[in-house]
Amino acid sequence: MKNMSDTRIELAEPGPMLPPVPSIILGVKGDDDIRDDIAVAWTFILNGKPPQVGISVSMKSARNEHEHVALDLIHKHKEFTLNVPDASWVNSFDIIDMCATERDDKFERANLTRISSKYIDAPGIAEAPIILECKVISSHELLPSRTVFFAEVVRTTIQKGVTDENGRLIPESKRFFGMVAGCGELWTFGEKVGHIGQTKGIDHIRY
Ligand SMILES: Cc1cc2nc3c(=O)[nH]c(=O)nc-3n(C[C@H](O)[C@H](O)[C@H](O)COP(=O)(O)O)c2cc1C
Repeated sequence: MKNMSDTRIELAEPGPMLPPVPSIILGVKGDDDIRDDIAVAWTFILNGKPPQVGISVSMKSARNEHEHVALDLIHKHKEFTLNVPDASWVNSFDIIDMCATERDDKFERANLTRISSKYIDAPGIAEAPIILECKVISSHELLPSRTVFFAEVVRTTIQKGVTDENGRLIPESKRFFGMVAGCGELWTFGEKVGHIGQTKGIDHIRY
């Protein structure tokens, strides 16, 4: 570590230290010899209206032997689900996270329940409080070792009680958690500290 001033320190290695980040499980349909797959993937919001999201999935490269089983399946089917976990099944989340390159039945491995989607042919996770059904718009190879997919959210389902009657998410309805990039810990939300638009006296923006 290098000292820059009394209050700021430069880390020896730069990193994507952006706490917290979404910890989301994607689901994708299988193939002749590959089962339906679920895997944890970097996930990010691209747009609110229309709802567009991105995922980044690791691929094999000269410098990287690691490839998600999900990668070829997403290229092939061009659709996937995003399943938001909650802390009541954090061990299942971790089991899925730790087996991205393996080909067995990951629903069984993690003791999770497969459900069908309505507008796409990809499995969702019944235990997930929120499931997004997504169709790929385009993809981009990000060297040295990633494929980034941009996708449109075509359907969002929730477990009862996760939103109010207007479809507004109730954060405390489930123990949602994120991964704290920079230390790899999984944390639920703490306290509410504000809302979007509070300095303008508005509270209708929800994204
Ligand atoms: C929040 C979060 C996001 C992740 N996103 C990705 C990702 O986009 N691509 C990837 O290859 N691995 C990602 N991982 C790590 C993998 O899910 C997994 O840990 C890794 O691929 C190891 O799997 P293996 O034991 O089968 O090699 C992520 C992990 C977390 C906790």
